[in-house]
Amino acid sequence: MTPLSLSPVRLLVVVLAITASFCKIEEADGRRDGRVVIGAQREFDYFNLALQWPGTVCRRTRYCCSSNACCRGSNSPTEFTIHGLWPDYNDGTWPACCKRSNFDEKEISTLLGALEKYWPSLSCGSSSTCYSGKGSFWAHEWEKHGTCSSPVTGDEYSYFLTTLNVYFKYNVTKVLNEAGYFPSNTEKYPRGGIVSAIQNAFHTTPKLVCSKGAVEELHLCFYKDFKLRDCAASKSSCPKYVSLPAYSSRGRASW
Ligand SMILES: *[C@@H]1O[C@H](CO)[C@@H](O)[C@H](O)[C@H]1NC(C)=O
Repeated sequence: MTPLSLSPVRLLVVVLAITASFCKIEEADGRRDGRVVIGAQREFDYFNLALQWPGTVCRRTRYCCSSNACCRGSNSPTEFTIHGLWPDYNDGTWPACCKRSNFDEKEISTLLGALEKYWPSLSCGSSSTCYSGKGSFWAHEWEKHGTCSSPVTGDEYSYFLTTLNVYFKYNVTKVLNEAGYFPSNTEKYPRGGIVSAIQNAFHTTPKLVCSKGAVEELHLCFYKDFKLRDCAASKSSCPKYVSLPAYSSRGRASW
C-alpha cells in the first residue's frame, strides 16, 4: 500500500501519534508558554540563547549520576550554563525537529571538554529526541532545535561551536556580579534590577524565567546575524523580588 492510499481515518491516527510524541518532547524542555511547529517549512525569525542557573536547577537533583553536572561537588558549575540555542518565530511559536539528522557525538568530539563545562546536563534522566527515542541532553538540543537552526548555523558541529562562541561573548554571570548580584541563599533581588543590569551591559532586554521565585533561566535573543535584539515580550514567571540561589552539593553519589 502506498502512503497515498491511506484512508482518512488511518491518516488521522498517524497524525495524532506524531503530535503526541512531540508533545512529550515539549514537556522535557519546560517550554509550555507557546506552540511548537513540527517539521516546519518556514524558516525561523530569531534565536534565543537559553542559559540556566545551576544553583536553581540543581535543587531538583535527588540522586546522583555521572552525567549530571550538579553532582560534581566542588567542581559543579557556579555560573550560568547553556541550555540551548533555540530558533523562534516572532509570533511566540517555534519550529522543532526540522530535519532527520540523528545526533552523533563523534562529530563534536573536539568540543566535548568545553561542552562538559559550559553546556552540561543538570539532570540524570535521558531526554526525548526527535527520531531516536531517548538520548543525551545534547542529542535533544541538536535534534529538536539545532536541525531548525541549520539554515544559519549549519551542521551539528557548527551548531554547537556557534552556540559556545555566542555564550563566550556575553558573560551574563559577570555582568550580574559587577552589578552586585551574587549567588546567595538568603538575599532577594529586584527582578527589574537584574533585567536593568543586562540592559545596561548589552543594550537588550532578556527574558527571565523563575521557579518558585528563584531565577532558573535567563534568555538572550539575537537576530539571525547574531546581533542582539530584545526577546519577545511575554509575562515573566518571576515575582518582583527573586533569589539567585548559591550552589550547594546535591544528592548522594550513587555510581
Ligand atoms: C565569566 O566571568 C567570570 C568572572 O566574572 C569568569 O569567572 C568566568 O570564567 C567567565 N565565563 C566565561 C564562560 O567566560
